[in-house]
Amino acid sequence: MKKIAVMTSGGDSPGMNAGIRSVVRTGLANDIEVYGIEQGFKGLIEGQIRKLNSRDVSNTIQRGGTFLRSARCMEFKTEAGQKKALDNLESFGIEGLIVIGGDGSLTGAKILYEKYGVKVVGMPGSIDNDIYGTSISIGVDTALNNIARAVDMINETASSHDRTFIIEVMGRHCGYLALMSAIACGAEAVIIPEIEYNLENIIDKIKQRYVEGKSRSVVIVAEGAGSAVDFGKAFQLIGGFDTRITVLGHLQRGGSPTVFDRTLATRMGAAAVDGLLAGHGGVMTALAGREISLIDLDVVLSNKRELDTKFMEIAEDLSL
Ligand code: F6P
Repeated sequence: MKKIAVMTSGGDSPGMNAGIRSVVRTGLANDIEVYGIEQGFKGLIEGQIRKLNSRDVSNTIQRGGTFLRSARCMEFKTEAGQKKALDNLESFGIEGLIVIGGDGSLTGAKILYEKYGVKVVGMPGSIDNDIYGTSISIGVDTALNNIARAVDMINETASSHDRTFIIEVMGRHCGYLALMSAIACGAEAVIIPEIEYNLENIIDKIKQRYVEGKSRSVVIVAEGAGSAVDFGKAFQLIGGFDTRITVLGHLQRGGSPTVFDRTLATRMGAAAVDGLLAGHGGVMTALAGREISLIDLDVVLSNKRELDTKFMEIAEDLSL
């Protein structure tokens, strides 16, 4: 294999730049030309492809976002879009492709492999941590740290006014960010889509905590469980609390990646190139225990990542 390409696709996640850098430099160390595809599958269809050298990835490991940029691409879902993508890979002589992204992007990678025989290795990049087969995806740790910083700050102002804050965090359909940040920040309650909840019970519990002397309450809501605005109205109306809401939004996805995300992405980038060189395709890099391994995309995409409900027990037990 002499030419490979790398792209970032779907929602960006902190650590993607570290992943690209690792792919480029591991490739160069193995005498391979590495191409960067701009804007994910959109750029692949449009032929936005350029050769990357070592200097192109200088000073990128500490930067959030993705310098190759990213996009969510509908055209790739069509046969015509897929054919254009394939033509561009062929005209650049690209023999192996590395796709960094979430479920949708990995599905695109699987299509290229299964339908068209392109050797593709995926790398899980999504703050949601909803990708099966890897204990954690690139960007999750940074997003959690971003959330924790924000909640810690909110806690201070909330305590000064005995207020109840409803804080909405990202995660699409997955409650992982909400649950782990609730544990990390000592939230009074957490509401996630995976676990049934009773609003009145939560409100009663919070009332009781105020009676016992708590000076504030923080409730973390996963966006997939509903909107903080609606929950806020209910808490105000039913509980009678002095309620404020904060939607953390995209600030969770930005910022310099943590050391964990930089090293995770770096290790996965190296493993992805090694995987291509060893002849693998249709696989994804995964963190299993302390090791980076390769797992079939088929397995990744036909399974749902389950949330460990033990964490919910911990969050509840510790919110006393
Ligand atoms: O998948 C990552 C994610 O940040 C989700 O948590 C969120 O629901 C979604 O992307 C937001 O997408 P966009 O940036 O396209 O608004």
